[in-house]
Amino acid sequence: MKFAPSLLAADFARLEEAARAVADLSDYLHWDVMDGHFVPNLTFGPVVVNALRERVSTPFDIHLMISDPQRYAPEFCVRPGDLVSFHLEAVRDPVSVIETIRGLGARVGLALKPQTPLSAAEPLISQIDVLLVMSVEPGFAGQSFLPDTLDKIRQAKALIVTKRANVEIEVDGGVNRHNVREIAQAGADIAVAASAVFGQENPRAALKALRQVASF
Ligand code: DX5
Ligand code: ZN
Repeated sequence: MKFAPSLLAADFARLEEAARAVADLSDYLHWDVMDGHFVPNLTFGPVVVNALRERVSTPFDIHLMISDPQRYAPEFCVRPGDLVSFHLEAVRDPVSVIETIRGLGARVGLALKPQTPLSAAEPLISQIDVLLVMSVEPGFAGQSFLPDTLDKIRQAKALIVTKRANVEIEVDGGVNRHNVREIAQAGADIAVAASAVFGQENPRAALKALRQVASF
């Protein structure tokens, strides 16, 4: 399983230091972009993420929890191999957003809130690279993993296999060392973790431990 530590639980006054601390151990660095509209919280936007992009070479995983990804996605200076995800619930025309993100040269992720059924993503599955399954309500770090997500991951995996789609499943919210193995076994390819990495005294050790538990 791949790991994408989320800087949402890091010290925002030292984002570069936090990112660098785990960069070599991470498959992606996950950036939770929130607009105070699609979700009831505000974080950072392209100005901050772009400044950090120049300082770290690990691929970026930009999770747009914003109402207008079509407008703001192009403001992120992505590199080939970076991933940009938007929420299906936020947009009327997901195909245009997919095309916009692809046009930037990024991989395309489609994110689903816990209440959004997998069937809503089904028609788009062959056009995306990553299906981001939220296992908490988007907006805040430190929430508990919603157990129903395990079935959603299994169903997503089955759908991807049936459709022969080349899509990775990313799970985001409440991932920790007690549930990461089950999440991996359910079929997740990428795990996001904020509190379980940056909320720990030693983020590097915490990330290594997560990886180890997941691979057993
Ligand atoms: C929630 C964010 C998540 C969050 C996860 O809205 O999308 O990426 O950082 O935080 P933890 O791992 O603490 O649940
Ligand atoms: Zn996220």
